[in-house]
Amino acid sequence: MRSSLIAGNWKMNGSLQSVVELIDGIKDGDAGQAELAVCPPSVFLMKVGGMLDDTDIALGAQNVCNHDVGAYTGEISAAMLTECGCRYAIVGHSERRSLYLESDELVAARFAMAVSAGLTPILCVGETLYEHEQGVTEAVVAKQIDAVLENCGIAGFAQAVIAYEPVWAIGTGLVASPELAQSVHHFIRGKLAASDGEIAQQIRILYGGSMNSSNAADLLSQADIDGGLIGGASLKADDFLAIAQSV
Ligand code: 13P
Repeated sequence: MRSSLIAGNWKMNGSLQSVVELIDGIKDGDAGQAELAVCPPSVFLMKVGGMLDDTDIALGAQNVCNHDVGAYTGEISAAMLTECGCRYAIVGHSERRSLYLESDELVAARFAMAVSAGLTPILCVGETLYEHEQGVTEAVVAKQIDAVLENCGIAGFAQAVIAYEPVWAIGTGLVASPELAQSVHHFIRGKLAASDGEIAQQIRILYGGSMNSSNAADLLSQADIDGGLIGGASLKADDFLAIAQSV
């Protein structure tokens, strides 16, 4: 039985003061049965990690370097993230892929580095609006996953989370229907099952893209949707907790 994970991707939002208020609000509230994780901007990881010490809420980073150490200005290594108390690291978010031109191969290398340091990568996959309209969603997602399979093999997914985030649904208010999301999640699990049935059954596949307290319950009730990767609605404690309570 897979446990549900509700993870907040704060992106580049907040201030020292607002992240403290947000964490206090989450800690004071009731998350129900879901496992919670928050992924603050990297400069706030130490602060937030310290505030989470006495809780079950996990800490995650929004990216991780594909090298272990050295002259990579602006990057943060997997070892540094584990030192900050991170359990998770998002890799391949569509904003990284589209705005910072991260290729499938680079994302796979970041994923590999996270795994080798004992972090759990949250691998984001998903199609653009154009690809959605062309009906090539499964091919796009398969290619994104294949790059990781080529780098790490199926064993890499034994310690990973996948987030299906249709790009057209991110920050747009256009949420994927539960049926559409379920069909892509089912496809992803089936693709992994072709290599290893056990890993496919145990891996958590999150949905991301305009998930909020109104649509979460329908999405989370689908058989292959094991949680959410939440952007905008993770920035308010009440909204984030309401999504968690929908599990
Ligand atoms: P929104 O929930 O704001 O659509 O963002 C989703 C996302 O990109 C999470 O990584």
